Amino acid sequence: MLCYPRGTVASANTERKIPLTMVDQLTDANIMAALSQVKDPEIGKDLVSLGMVKAIEITGSIVDLTVELTTPACPLKAKIESDIVDGLAALGATTVRVDWASNVKRSFGGPAADLIPGVKNTIAVASGKGGVGKTTVAVNLAVSLARDGARVGLLDADITGPNVPMMMGTSGSHVTGVGSRVNPVVAHGVQMMSIEYFLTGGAPVIWRGPLIHSAIQQFLRDVEWGELDYLIVDLPPGTGDAALSLSQLIPLSGAVVVTTPQEVSLLDARKAIAMFNKVNVRTIGVVENMSGFICPDCGTEHDIFGTGGANSLSRELGLEVLARIPLEPAVRTGGDAGAPITSTQHPSSDTSVAAAALRELARTVAGRISVIAEPFAGARAS
Ligand SMILES: Nc1ncnc2c1ncn2[C@@H]1O[C@H](COP(=O)(O)OP(=O)(O)O)[C@@H](O)[C@H]1O
Ligand SMILES: [Mg+2]
Repeated sequence: MLCYPRGTVASANTERKIPLTMVDQLTDANIMAALSQVKDPEIGKDLVSLGMVKAIEITGSIVDLTVELTTPACPLKAKIESDIVDGLAALGATTVRVDWASNVKRSFGGPAADLIPGVKNTIAVASGKGGVGKTTVAVNLAVSLARDGARVGLLDADITGPNVPMMMGTSGSHVTGVGSRVNPVVAHGVQMMSIEYFLTGGAPVIWRGPLIHSAIQQFLRDVEWGELDYLIVDLPPGTGDAALSLSQLIPLSGAVVVTTPQEVSLLDARKAIAMFNKVNVRTIGVVENMSGFICPDCGTEHDIFGTGGANSLSRELGLEVLARIPLEPAVRTGGDAGAPITSTQHPSSDTSVAAAALRELARTVAGRISVIAEPFAGARAS
């Protein structure tokens, strides 16, 4: 689902009388000139030089445009749309209809990228310690991006504690495939791979380093991921060998670090960010999870784990706080039931603050990834 259905009508002042001389201004060249004044606020360049204007059709004072975004999970689509309408209204357009398309660009390279040739972006979700909501964030990020119309994969790289199948309602599913190629398991519009899909009877995984390494390599190379806009990777918690070697092994566009507001968790988040710096993986930002609890009985917000921790962390390290997600019982019950909260709540009737924050997080991350991809796109074009 797109944020707006394709063919959304954005109407300028339809009542206004347009002098004929003004309608004459509605030419392809003038429209392109006006659109070259409209910037993609995220990337900071205009729509024309970014090649985002794909078609223009003029019928009297009505203009139909096809605009290609760098992500269907459009954080700033409404802003771009109103800037387009303003620009074309100044040329005399009475109605501007924008048909949104998207073309997600690739944002990583290097030799390991050849393992997953159809994947455009890879986003690690990491945390300094377990239990802070890393898998919860990873699954909801994946589901939200898929609901916005992106092609999404979710790789459960937490080999010794694989929780993705349970949270996505696919426990007991098994991989299918031909020869050495295996198909991902699909649920909530997301293609997934987890070690659990290879196990029977929930046997505990006691694999050590080298085996984990080769399992992940196979998850990248031998899985029929096909074309994916985003591959979300649920990394093992911590900053030990497992997380470190996986963040080197998997070609990553960037990492999202999940923390809770209390000091002890922030301390571990700092270590996770230092780990990514060490292996030259960009930290996109920090998510503060379990950030306040709104009492369902009295409506008062309680800061169970303290407050403002991610803020000071972000100031200290120059990182963005991408989202604050409150503690909400429905997040846990959704996870336990295999129905992530962003899959069950509809944006228009959303009563969950956490669901809205997670959905917003997905769009923010997609926007930041578009910015990371821009120099890669430029390099390819030149
Ligand atoms: N914002 C939240 N509100 C309520 N429960 C949450 C929230 N975030 C995570 N949980 C619950 O906390 C537990 C730990 O989360 P999980 O995502 O498994 O953490 P991790 O992957 O970091 O170990 C799970 O039961 C999950 O449903
Ligand atoms: Mg987990």
